[in-house]
Amino acid sequence: MLEIQNLTKTFGTLTVLDGVSLAVEQGDVVAILGPSGSGKTTMLRCLNFLETADSGVLTFDGEAFDMRTISRRDIARLRKKTAFVFQNYNLFRNKTALENVTEGLIIGRHMPKVQAIDIAKKALTKVGLADRMDHYPVQLSGGQQQRVGIARAIATNPEIIYFDEPTSALDPELIGEVLAVMRQLAEEGMTMLVVTHELNFAKNVSSKVLFMEDGSILEEASSHDFFAAPREGRVREFLRSISTDHIY
Ligand SMILES: Nc1ncnc2c1ncn2[C@@H]1O[C@H](COP(=O)(O)OP(=O)(O)O)[C@@H](O)[C@H]1O
Ligand SMILES: [Mg+2]
Repeated sequence: MLEIQNLTKTFGTLTVLDGVSLAVEQGDVVAILGPSGSGKTTMLRCLNFLETADSGVLTFDGEAFDMRTISRRDIARLRKKTAFVFQNYNLFRNKTALENVTEGLIIGRHMPKVQAIDIAKKALTKVGLADRMDHYPVQLSGGQQQRVGIARAIATNPEIIYFDEPTSALDPELIGEVLAVMRQLAEEGMTMLVVTHELNFAKNVSSKVLFMEDGSILEEASSHDFFAAPREGRVREFLRSISTDHIY
């Protein structure tokens, strides 16, 4: 469904992505692990053209695009099939939960307001926020705000959702409620690419794991194989170094 070939990205003299290739099939939940600074966020941003790659080919639903020279029109077209969930939620502070979800539908997709509200209410209900629709972000916990972020993503009916450390900004007791929503989406067959440090999520929910280091994919395996017997010593060291406390 989604394939990336030889994605490279530099910032000045710093090579952040050094020839990354990956393939995602429909229904895959791909967990991307790796130390801070390894290029995970930059990779997701390049996939959604929030950042322009130096080179690389992105194939989506069989259509190939040069990631450096892709037109704004094609970017807009591809963005209609994808959604992004940010580490820091990226909600409008001056809009309610409901308005945060309808905004992209009404402005971005020119959907009639009545229809947008209907879809947004369903999405917010799905993430367990039926009783919080009229709340502003400041009136919501971090876990609730991130669930609004997920509702905003699913409301657009995407083919794939990119998550960039969706639980990293949360207090530990709020992580589980967000992971539970993500797990439910995974079980319903949503295709997801998830940068995370939650090893239990990667182990129990993802189908495939990619381990990034220094702008490259150091190891790629099925989730089962990855956790049963990581090939790379560096990966074993990383897995030992981060905690696996969170239950969801
Ligand atoms: N806009 C930018 N300008 C310059 N350097 C950047 C920029 N964004 C990221 N970097 C650098 O690129 C490297 C990878 O960053 P990032 O993709 O955020 O890694 P990760 O998400 O794995 O922690 C880091 O060294 C970071 O400092
Ligand atoms: Mg990051």
